[in-house]
Amino acid sequence: MRGQLQALLRRAASTQGRSKIDIDWDNLSFNLDHHGQEMFCAVWNGPAKGWEGQLQDYGPLSLMPSAQALNYGQSIFEGMKARRTAKDRIVLFRPEMNASRMKDGARRLCMPEVPQHTFINAVEETVRANSEYVPPLGKGALYIRPLLFGSGPILGLAPAPSYTFVTYCAAVGSYFKGGQLKPIDLVVENKFHRAAPGGMGGTKAAGNYSAVLQIQRAANAKGFADVVYLDCKTDAYLEEVSACNIFVVKGRTIKTPPLTGTILPGVTRDSILQLARKRGYDVKEQPIPVVEALEADEIFTTGTAVVVSPVGSLTHKGKRRVYGGGVAPTPVGLELYGDLTAIQNEQTGDHFGWVHPVC
Ligand code: COI
Repeated sequence: MRGQLQALLRRAASTQGRSKIDIDWDNLSFNLDHHGQEMFCAVWNGPAKGWEGQLQDYGPLSLMPSAQALNYGQSIFEGMKARRTAKDRIVLFRPEMNASRMKDGARRLCMPEVPQHTFINAVEETVRANSEYVPPLGKGALYIRPLLFGSGPILGLAPAPSYTFVTYCAAVGSYFKGGQLKPIDLVVENKFHRAAPGGMGGTKAAGNYSAVLQIQRAANAKGFADVVYLDCKTDAYLEEVSACNIFVVKGRTIKTPPLTGTILPGVTRDSILQLARKRGYDVKEQPIPVVEALEADEIFTTGTAVVVSPVGSLTHKGKRRVYGGGVAPTPVGLELYGDLTAIQNEQTGDHFGWVHPVC
């Protein structure tokens, strides 16, 4: 209640021109510098009562050191964006896909599922309460982070006795340094793997992202923006990049690795597959040998945070392949980026019914 009142007062102040928010919209980065002031926080009250939550000030959560998530990693998250569009309203993109993926992850990690209506309501309330943090059209987005974790204490290895579902947000710009469409330099990882068959690679488990930090940092130190992981059985096929899916283009054929449980079923990945098919490309979800990627016309990555990011070069065992000169976005990725963002920004018709208006 207190949070809702504060959100209302803040919005009232903002509409009267007294908002304290002073953001340089032209220089947003992907960080928490401009986090929203409100978050939605819900607790699990058991199967009979389900989830109960409300808006509250963005701030620390109170946890015991024995919280399951801190000790054993029972934690999954989502990434979503709200955009201010050409229709002068704020919209989400395919939120039911995120809700469904979080349900799948909850089952995999033995956590209570967050029903779709609870999930979408939490996200909508977070967006409405922080609407002044949604950048102007074309300047970035409000990144939304729904997070479900075992917050209750436990000592022996078992699921947590209680759970928290929290949704916070921040105004963000492009994920990779240098701007949204600046081609990135990737390196193929030959020693470590991100996920194994039967593991958790297909869920948005927090631990999947910690697993790549050491590798990512080493690659960053060598000047690469990020790392491409290979399958752990044969070390021959592309899997995904640390925080995004990967696509390979040759002529009119577009390929991306199939969803076999080791890679993330990305919302942007699925959207690009549909947009590419609509454009008449020959679209294939099939294993891609790294040697094929090195001979491709172009490569791009997809994800909520990265949107569509062209790849300028791929380095494998010391051999560097440059795509499209390495400095400008390559044509197919650019075309599909245009198709996707035109829908997300409501600059074209919503043929697929993907846009979800909030306010
Ligand atoms: C996203 O694309 O939203 C993600 O969750 C990736 C994250 C590492 C920023």
